[in-house]
Amino acid sequence: MKNVLALAGSLRARSTNLAIIEAIAETFAGRMKVTVYDGLARLPHFNPDLEQAAEPPAEVAALRRAIRAADGVLVCTPEYVFSIPAALKNALEWTVGTSDFAGRPTALITASALGEKTHESLFLVLKTIEARISEDTALLISGARAKMPEGRFTDAATAAAVNSVIEAFLRAMDES
Ligand SMILES: Cc1cc2nc3c(=O)[nH]c(=O)nc-3n(C[C@H](O)[C@H](O)[C@H](O)COP(=O)(O)O)c2cc1C
Repeated sequence: MKNVLALAGSLRARSTNLAIIEAIAETFAGRMKVTVYDGLARLPHFNPDLEQAAEPPAEVAALRRAIRAADGVLVCTPEYVFSIPAALKNALEWTVGTSDFAGRPTALITASALGEKTHESLFLVLKTIEARISEDTALLISGARAKMPEGRFTDAATAAAVNSVIEAFLRAMDES
């Protein structure tokens, strides 16, 4: 059983991205245990002066511990104004100096109205922080809300693409 930490880039209670994480957790319940990171809204803004401090802010330490304890990280996010949601980018910035993502299997699903720019940019960010991510573990779902009207995929092609990304993610976790 793999331990997966999920980061949802949307703080919305009825978020499509959170629903995707929950659908994945249910579908793959026998093979991975998904814990949704719930501290995104409480993290302080990234400050390099505090980055390497012996005692970083408690929320930052908790985020780093959660990433390091996970076999893999699943990131699901929308795009806001053609960019990575600030709360998610902020969380990633806190992990740069301590290399928490280095070598860690990571899957990226960008589920948004459009999402192309964010998907590309976040893939680059994750590569830069040395997350173990490939085209096989990354998926852009444009028009996401229409494909998941009730928190379930109504679009068979999207459901199949999500399954294939998660199978590749599971393989990467097996290999690491
Ligand atoms: C402030 C704001 C800006 C947005 N900008 C974009 C955008 O640039 N590109 C895009 O694809 N969707 C954009 N959207 C629409 C989101 O993709 C859509 O609201 C999505 O469902 C949010 O994800 P969630 O359902 O997980 O909360 C924007 C939404 C908001 C609220």
